[in-house]
Amino acid sequence: MPVLPLRKKSENLLGSLIREVSKDSMEKPGLIPLWFGEGHRSAPPAVVAEAHKAIDEGYQFYASSAGRPELRAAIADYVSNLRGIKVGPERICVTTSGNSAIQMAMQLIVDPGDNVVFAVPLWPNAADMVDHLNGEVRRVPLKLDARGWSLDLDRLFAAVDARTKAIFLNSPGNPTGWLATPDELRAVLDFCRRRGIWAIGDDVYERIVYGADRSPSLLDFAGPEDAVMSINSFSKGWCMTGWRLGWLVAPAAVTDTLGKIIEFNTSGATTFVQRAGVVALKQEGFVREIREEYARARDITFQRLSGMGRVRLARPEAAFYAFFSVDGMTDSVEYCKRLVREANVGLAPGRAFGPEGEGFIRLCFATNPERLTEAFDRLEPLLR
Ligand SMILES: Cc1ncc(COP(=O)(O)O)c(C=O)c1O
Repeated sequence: MPVLPLRKKSENLLGSLIREVSKDSMEKPGLIPLWFGEGHRSAPPAVVAEAHKAIDEGYQFYASSAGRPELRAAIADYVSNLRGIKVGPERICVTTSGNSAIQMAMQLIVDPGDNVVFAVPLWPNAADMVDHLNGEVRRVPLKLDARGWSLDLDRLFAAVDARTKAIFLNSPGNPTGWLATPDELRAVLDFCRRRGIWAIGDDVYERIVYGADRSPSLLDFAGPEDAVMSINSFSKGWCMTGWRLGWLVAPAAVTDTLGKIIEFNTSGATTFVQRAGVVALKQEGFVREIREEYARARDITFQRLSGMGRVRLARPEAAFYAFFSVDGMTDSVEYCKRLVREANVGLAPGRAFGPEGEGFIRLCFATNPERLTEAFDRLEPLLR
């Protein structure tokens, strides 16, 4: 069929390599899918009830682009209480997901030819967005040794030049589970202040950290005027991936502009979903419960995978992924396709997270112990 030429960037999009592995097997009978980054539970019942109620009460019309005032205020309180800082609602923009929050942030700051420095391997969307804006993606690999993943600050800072607009860190990290230390975040913030560039933290896994109530964030050290943005989402902490609701904390001076950007992108998050978001922020018991479930799943995962001869992995301290290497594996995409065929278990190829991820596989362990155990029983003969 003849088609008119598209934007070159759009024509050349590669698409997700996780989808490449999963596309023909989503409906495969008996498959255990551990390839996507989401938990098996649905949203807290009080959130579901509030969404129904909000529809019935008529919350079905446009909301203001930067979010309904009650949700902006609830998020501001939540962030302030969680971190022991003072964040006002004027610094919050509601978005239709964490993904959308990143997109708004990048549209706010990236001109063609600018670059953004990322610590990698990394969930691909953020870097892809910069590329799609005709920005340059600069990748600085995290290091892996016996103690786990770590960031080489000198290498990170060396990647910054006159065209750098931001350093982007995702901690807790997807896919690695890397957790930035408070000292590292403080150092990145100081560096960004000195160089006059943005520091962006993707904090979507901040509540999924084992042995603490939250992970450290750039927000812990930033003043209200600092050029810092924090990306967040209801997807992971409240099991609301399909609701598409997130937020951005930014300096008050830019939230009006962000609202204008949101206006022509999505015109704001779904109105009744925003009402439900207010209720979600009160579900602390739910957040703790799922964290405990994931901690047990993490222990099973670590114990089973580290007993498999060809597997090497660091114990994940946060997020809900095992990111492990497999001796002798040269093509993670082909290997994951084979695991679907021969073990009927769906995993994500490391190359989906950039070239640095080749040689690795990501397994999302946010599921129940029975399913996990069954998945490991099936994988073991292949990874022994
Ligand atoms: C690191 C990271 N940031 C952001 C997101 C976006 O989540 P959502 O768009 O569902 O809010 C994800 C989702 O997997 C993620 O892993």
